[in-house]
Amino acid sequence: MSLSGWNNNIITYSPLETEAVAEQFAKILSAGALVLLKGDLGAGKTTFVKGLAKGLKITSECIVQSPTFTYLHIYEGEQGPLYHFDLYRMTQCEEFLSQGFDDFLFGEAICCVEWPERIEKLLTPPYWEVQIVHKDIESREFRYRYYG
Ligand SMILES: Nc1ncnc2c1ncn2[C@@H]1O[C@H](COP(=O)(O)OP(=O)(O)OP(=O)(O)O)[C@@H](O)[C@H]1O
Ligand SMILES: [Mg+2]
Repeated sequence: MSLSGWNNNIITYSPLETEAVAEQFAKILSAGALVLLKGDLGAGKTTFVKGLAKGLKITSECIVQSPTFTYLHIYEGEQGPLYHFDLYRMTQCEEFLSQGFDDFLFGEAICCVEWPERIEKLLTPPYWEVQIVHKDIESREFRYRYYG
């Protein structure tokens, strides 16, 4: 479970192990970091965010309700907020813009995005990309890459 260097392949064998990997990953993030989480349905993106929240010493959660879906969760922590988008149901990036969500992406706080493919056009480095591959019932492979 080494996190040295970029673009390591890490295999986890349980959700708790994924959370632990994310908790370590949180330590290398600096203020304002943007983390894009890529992987199929059920790959483990939300599980990873749970670990990130632990690593960032998050104390409470607030859900921002959109007219139709919940796209944004805000977690308050000792080191500031963590913004967590789940854009699975978003069909047009114009919707993201019309809700003023772009302010969160490039702000002072750490922001992580599930299904960033939905807003690909809006995303410019620097950001981290985390790819999750569903290998088996309980095993997942993680890769990290930083785009500066
Ligand atoms: N090694 C593992 N790491 C993460 N999750 C695992 C692992 N093994 C099994 N799981 C299970 O896989 C599921 C992952 O769900 P999770 O909600 O994190 O996925 P997701 O990528 O966010 O999916 P979605 O695209 O639907 O939001 C959970 O039910 C979790 O318990
Ligand atoms: Mg999810």
